[in-house]
Amino acid sequence: MNTPLTRTRDEGADTEWWRDAVIYQIYPRSFADSDGDGIGDLPGVIARLDHLVSLGVDAVWLSPFYPSPQADAGYDVADYRDVDPIFGRLADADQLIAQAHQRGIRVIVDLVPNHTSSAHAWFVEALAAAPGSPARDRYVFRDGRGPGGDEPPNSWRSVFGGPAWTRTTDPDGTPGQWYLHLFDAGQPDLNWDNPQVRDEFVDILRFWLARGVDGFRVDVAHGLVKQADLADWHYPAETTTGDHVAQARPPMWDQDGVHEIYRQWRAVLDAHPGQQILVAEAWVQPAERLAAYVRPDEMHQAFNFEYLEAAWSAAAQRTVIDRSLAAADAVGAPTTWVLSNHDVLRHATRLALPVGTPRPNGIGAGDPQPDTALGLRRARAATLLMLALPGSAYLYQGEELGLPEHTTLPDEARQDPTWRRTGHTERGRDGCRVPIPWEADSPSYGFGPTDASWLPQPPVWAEYAVDRQRDVPGSTFEMYRTALRLRRDHHGLGRGPLRWLESPDDVLAFAVGAVTVLTNFGDAPVPLPPGVEPLHASGPLTDDGQLPTDVTVWARQPAR
Ligand code: GLC
Ligand code: MG
Repeated sequence: MNTPLTRTRDEGADTEWWRDAVIYQIYPRSFADSDGDGIGDLPGVIARLDHLVSLGVDAVWLSPFYPSPQADAGYDVADYRDVDPIFGRLADADQLIAQAHQRGIRVIVDLVPNHTSSAHAWFVEALAAAPGSPARDRYVFRDGRGPGGDEPPNSWRSVFGGPAWTRTTDPDGTPGQWYLHLFDAGQPDLNWDNPQVRDEFVDILRFWLARGVDGFRVDVAHGLVKQADLADWHYPAETTTGDHVAQARPPMWDQDGVHEIYRQWRAVLDAHPGQQILVAEAWVQPAERLAAYVRPDEMHQAFNFEYLEAAWSAAAQRTVIDRSLAAADAVGAPTTWVLSNHDVLRHATRLALPVGTPRPNGIGAGDPQPDTALGLRRARAATLLMLALPGSAYLYQGEELGLPEHTTLPDEARQDPTWRRTGHTERGRDGCRVPIPWEADSPSYGFGPTDASWLPQPPVWAEYAVDRQRDVPGSTFEMYRTALRLRRDHHGLGRGPLRWLESPDDVLAFAVGAVTVLTNFGDAPVPLPPGVEPLHASGPLTDDGQLPTDVTVWARQPAR
């Protein structure tokens, strides 16, 4: 077939759809609620699939919907082969996959292999079993240090704050061994040296492949294997600039042994008909280390968090784009791009912070409040820049509405374990997880049939609602929609190759496919190159056709 610039949703099986796919993250508990209990659910997602069709995405990734005590919003899985009653039933997952496929949208599910929930049958069994037993060997149990074993086995800390170890109580009531949890105490780490653990996850992959999913987003992909001696780790002090002092790789992250696991999983996927993908969530830098996860016999993609964290300046953006492309190219993988997800400050808020500010873990009512208009303007420019880059792009629900972080959430409402485990010093991630607005004048802004919402929605949500933006020229929703249509239909956007063009210092300019892309990071408007014809922009150009501060334009190159 010789139609390289056209992409249709029922393309032939031999096309590597994921190389330039736009993938939309659904955070089920905050997307759409069908039953009015204030928590989004799978029937809610099904009822709103047409929104995603009109937006024009290629695939969705669903954060976990499995049975779970919800100690970490479902990233604590008690049963990998079912659906939690708050989200629906297994039949709803099947329906969702079928309904999405009917609309030409692929479905990626979340796989959480670093840890289970403490309510998982294996962990319950391990607690009841003796030290040294096969049941305990599926997790990381150790005796404590010091007199009476009263001190944790090593110095590791939980990502959410506090020690990474919790002591157990023996059946006779006396203090027992400790178990490792790199996250919440309700998320015990699995022991990936145990063959039963490896077999179990291959089986879980096959379970969901058989149900028709198109891929897996692999949670904490850099954490599964720990350095065998569980050596103490001396956490880097923050310097006055907020940078971490460079030093050796920590013994709990990015160990070489993880790659063997992904090679095995890749073989499982390759043996299955169709094209399913593995996506690594690995907070690994530099880009070259991350690229190891997407070597030809491992995963297909890895989230590009270095890009997400890059400062809003022409120099920083150009550097991260070059590094990302080069590292991925070296292993033949597509780059990915991402600006927001359920773990970080929404980019419409993050980009309002002074350029170069380290990314805060949540913002509260007592903190300085970001300039919403500036944040949105930059967020829109960042998005149009991202959607032109060669590779696959990830969107997070609500960003197509220009939704900001909820920065004045009452502290009593917070549910992220980070807030509790840091002794109320880090607010955590609730502000980006607030249920999204669909209809300005409905209860819960159309999130569900009632006013119930598991996190309170701020009154400003009305102005961001889908029904206030649909068919409104210049709205953020219409900006996304036009961008995705242009990207899908023609022009080679998202496919590259990318060629940098000469430009003033504060302007980023490149050609990709048939399009010239310019972003102005400077503080004064700049003229467009002679002869180009604007196709799409993140904001209005000046009256005399110049590109204002914090605006991105896509333009057709002059005919030659
Ligand atoms: C990943 C998830 C995050 C979760 C953590 C532990 O980073 O994205 O939400 O808290 O893993 O599973
Ligand atoms: Mg519900």
